[in-house]
Amino acid sequence: MGIVYDEKQRTITLHTKNTTYQMQIDRYGFLLHLYYGKSAEGCMDYLLTYYDRGFSGNPYDAGNDKTYSMDSLPQEFPSLGTGDYRTPACIIKNTDKTYCSDFRYESHCIKEGKYSLEGLPAVYADENEAQTLEVVLTDRVSGVRAVLLYGVLPEYDIITRSVRIINGSTGNISVKKLAPACLDMVGGEYDFITFYGRHAMERNFQRMPVGHGVAKIGSLRGSSSHQYNPAVILAEHEATEDAGGCYAMSFVYSGGFQSEAGQDQYSQTRLLMGFSEEQFAYPLRPGEALQSPEVIMSYCAEGLAKLSQNLHRCMRIHLCRGKYKEAVRPILINSWEASYFDFTGESLLQLAQQAADLGMEMFVMDDGWFGKRDSELRGLGDWKVNEEKLGCTLGELIDKVNALGLKFGIWIEPEMVNEDSDLYRAHPDWAFVIPGRRPNRSRHQLVLDFSRPEIVDYIYEQICGVLDQGNIEYIKWDMNRSLADIYSATADSQGRVLHDYVLGLYSFLERLVNRYPNILIEGCSGGGGRFDAGMLYYTPQIWCSDNTDPIDRLLIQYGTSFIYPASTVGAHVSASPNHQTNRTTTLKTRGMVAMAGTFGYELNLNELSSEEKEEIRGQIKEYKKYAKLIQGGLYYRLTDPQTDNQGAWEFVSEDRSEALVQVVGIKKHANMTVDYIKVKGLRENTMYRDTETGRIYNSTALREAGIPKPVLNGEYKAYQWHFVLAE
Ligand code: GLA
Repeated sequence: MGIVYDEKQRTITLHTKNTTYQMQIDRYGFLLHLYYGKSAEGCMDYLLTYYDRGFSGNPYDAGNDKTYSMDSLPQEFPSLGTGDYRTPACIIKNTDKTYCSDFRYESHCIKEGKYSLEGLPAVYADENEAQTLEVVLTDRVSGVRAVLLYGVLPEYDIITRSVRIINGSTGNISVKKLAPACLDMVGGEYDFITFYGRHAMERNFQRMPVGHGVAKIGSLRGSSSHQYNPAVILAEHEATEDAGGCYAMSFVYSGGFQSEAGQDQYSQTRLLMGFSEEQFAYPLRPGEALQSPEVIMSYCAEGLAKLSQNLHRCMRIHLCRGKYKEAVRPILINSWEASYFDFTGESLLQLAQQAADLGMEMFVMDDGWFGKRDSELRGLGDWKVNEEKLGCTLGELIDKVNALGLKFGIWIEPEMVNEDSDLYRAHPDWAFVIPGRRPNRSRHQLVLDFSRPEIVDYIYEQICGVLDQGNIEYIKWDMNRSLADIYSATADSQGRVLHDYVLGLYSFLERLVNRYPNILIEGCSGGGGRFDAGMLYYTPQIWCSDNTDPIDRLLIQYGTSFIYPASTVGAHVSASPNHQTNRTTTLKTRGMVAMAGTFGYELNLNELSSEEKEEIRGQIKEYKKYAKLIQGGLYYRLTDPQTDNQGAWEFVSEDRSEALVQVVGIKKHANMTVDYIKVKGLRENTMYRDTETGRIYNSTALREAGIPKPVLNGEYKAYQWHFVLAE
């Protein structure tokens, strides 16, 4: 296992437990990609084929050999200008104003441990858990270097990639396109799986064949976005949840991105993941470098379920950080859907009192507690506690909440400003506005220019000033609009601003987690508009969607589960009829769907009947019973809620001694046919006991024939089975 260099073949091979990745330094110094798939020994350069292809470029070094062309050879880091006319991973504008980069192998080294990236989130691991490969490529004419980084976590079947562009030339250059991960597949037929959506309906699953022409998804919004998630899967046409080859790429980045998948003229597939090209032209003076964020990659020969589990494990244990990363998260009550902006200190305390009575563990004061923030129209930027509204100081409110036995959490939206705020009146030039143009508003707010460190510093101080007022144990970090009107007064090039904004955001978050190591931060961007692996490095959970309707959540959480672990998925029980869809569902159904994430409540508890309160007490006890299994278990999708009669999923303990199966009906008809839920991941041909009925089941039969879902009248019924090994 690990990274092996074969001097004779000039191959570099990365081995993980079940996969192998191989590249070769070829005769002209190009770094070719040979193989990524099931574990395999030996040299795979027999996969390279050479034919005289019309209209393909031949590098000068190949002399009269017309069969040698980068237009058909699989590469690790394709660029413009070498004779490859496919979509490149990198475009650089050189000092001489040309766009050519001819990267050739210069050197490489293998190191113990996993590289880290300054100022950027990245997978981390101990020295004995990972290795790093660094390959230096150089354009010998321009002097520009590309340092390719590969992190290998063998036990996890994870390989990460990042690239550093160093301006080794004598003048200024700019990086116009940069995709740290490129996968060139010489054969095979694949599907491109992506996760599209919109506000309150994020991460819908889409699977489409990779054809001729490039399919591209991405975000031009300056954040990863509700519209497309920065994670994709390339799956063999036949791949299912349980079988078939599939590759994942998850970008550890919270800004604009793009992923491209397409077949070339010879039906070879190229998959790329990197920065969005729009408004991107990152300037580098001589000696300066641009470090790209990294991409987490995994290959699995055994279908999508295991591919997801590979990503889940890696993100849960090697990306999320802090004291809560593997701890069961406190069950919270959030004030937003309980009272929106309309609260007083007294009404908040009443809600907290109810929450404490029912067994909840943390009270979160959402939007509306600062400045003149009684509506969306004003107040953002003024991080001063509205003591008049609260009727006391923040410290006093926190003390009272703590006295009820609850932790206290608070909502913030540091990146934003309302025009109606003291901050904007004092510093109108701190928001993104292009001189001479009127800016685009969104939710009546503008975005602060976080590419400027002095603005980040100022807001950081303001926020710390609030956090220091009492025993705050949780922050919900929100971000409620997309970026626009990109202009930064102090930038040497506007093409750097979007990336520098993300670096500013990360520097703020890094300082925050270091200064307040005991605070749990939950990410949020109008729900799941910035649900990405980059944020997970700072915020081990993210509010999954502003849509709390459990039936819509079946779809949202289904899509989310392909990439992100349940321990990161913020999910709350809210009121019925639901505030976003007006749909009526039972408390049981709402509870079950919310339990498949980091559990909480978000409704006015004072309006509940005593039966409902009793049921919530039971739900909380039940969640606590299963919380470890849910947060740390292996996740299986048992149905496709987009097409099946129900949403069904399962958590299985790592040792496969225990499983929790949860099912919510979606479609309902008279005289309904019986659906059998096929239970996965248990030990082969082993007896398990249903802990509720005591009935014994055989695991192979449970998987092959399934378990009948009861046919009960009523919509959106929820069912659950908990299996343990039978003695
Ligand atoms: C966003 C969040 C909500 C809530 C509101 C407050 O929409 O996603 O959960 O915090 O902002 O304004």
